This record gives sequence, structure tokens and C-alpha cells, in this order.
Amino acid sequence: MAFGTSVKNAVEVTKAVKKVCKKPVFIKLSPNVTDIVEIAKAVEKAGANGLVISNTFLGMRISLVNKKPIIANKVGGYSGPGVFPMVLRMVYQVYENVKIPIIGCGGVSTTNDVIEMMLAGATAVEIGSANLVDPYICKKIITELPKVMKKYKITDLSKIIGGAHHG
Ligand SMILES: Cc1cc2nc3c(=O)[nH]c(=O)nc-3n(C[C@H](O)[C@H](O)[C@H](O)COP(=O)(O)O)c2cc1C
Repeated sequence: MAFGTSVKNAVEVTKAVKKVCKKPVFIKLSPNVTDIVEIAKAVEKAGANGLVISNTFLGMRISLVNKKPIIANKVGGYSGPGVFPMVLRMVYQVYENVKIPIIGCGGVSTTNDVIEMMLAGATAVEIGSANLVDPYICKKIITELPKVMKKYKITDLSKIIGGAHHG
């Protein structure tokens, strides 16, 4: 069940997990919704300690050879650089409406993406698909980060969280 696409189900799952889990619970949200802010706020109220934004976008491709969907499930999760602007937009919108921390996840593949995601409101950034292209991507980004921070006159990463909202 895609329980992330309904406020009622997302709240129910959050409450059930919080009841038995002694560790902080971060709820990963689905981007396949009309209003992600509504779900984020409901999940925060239900006790989530943080949010991960977001999971994959529902997509599909069709083979021109056999004229049929390429994947067996017909539809599947779309991720990688193509989703970055949409995820960034969701992180930005949710940041303005919740107090719990957000992990930005979707299409991040460069050091600049990490900084952009944090300016939108992410406290931390997660990298998925880019690891499949370059298994050393995280190491490269971490190594490059101080240089890029210097270029953009950033002295403390924690100070840029949500920076795009101020002023
Ligand atoms: C091969 C693959 C498997 C994935 N499996 C899961 C999974 O089991 N659970 C989950 O929450 N997200 C899963 N995801 C989604 C990623 O964790 C991530 O939310 C999404 O791909 C967006 O980030 P990215 O563009 O950096 O990959 C998977 C993604 C890929 C590409």
C-alpha cells in the first residue's frame, strides 16, 4: 500500500511506529501527492521527529520495439537529477510549515546541489541514484564541500539551513 499518499494512512503509520520505536522516527514522504505540506504537517502532529523528502516519483517508459511498458510492473519509481527541482520545491514548501528537521533527498548529484537543498531548508542531504553512476560520489562531494563553501562565502553549513527563506 502506498500509505504516504493519504493523510489518514500516513498519520496511522507514524503513530504505530512511534508507539513501539524508542529511536527518533523520520518519516519518508511520497512526492506523488497534490499537497505534500498537508501530509508533512499531519505526520509532524502525529509525532514524527523528522521528515525525509522525498521518495521516487511514479513514472513509466514504453519500448518502441515491442510497444509495451519497459518494466514488468508497468510503472515504477523515477529518481536522479531530473527530479531535483521538484524535490527542492517540496523541501522549500514544507520547511515553511513544520518545525522538525528535513532530510533532502532527490536528484542530488553535485556539491552545489547539497548547498541548494540546505538553502531550501534541508538539515541533511541524502544521495541515492548518483551512487549508481559514481560509487565515490559521496566521498567526492564531502571532499569538495569546503572549497565550494569558500567560493560562496559560507563559513558554517548549519547557518545556511533554510537560508533561501530569509530576507
Ligand atoms: C534502485 C533504488 C532502490 C530504492 N529503494 C528504496 C527503498 O527500498 N525504500 C525507500 O524508501 N526508497 C527507495 N528508493 C528511493 C531513494 O531512497 C530516494 O528516495 C530516491 O531515489 C530519490 O533520491 P535520488 O534521486 O538521490 O535517488 C530507491 C531508489 C533506487 C534508485
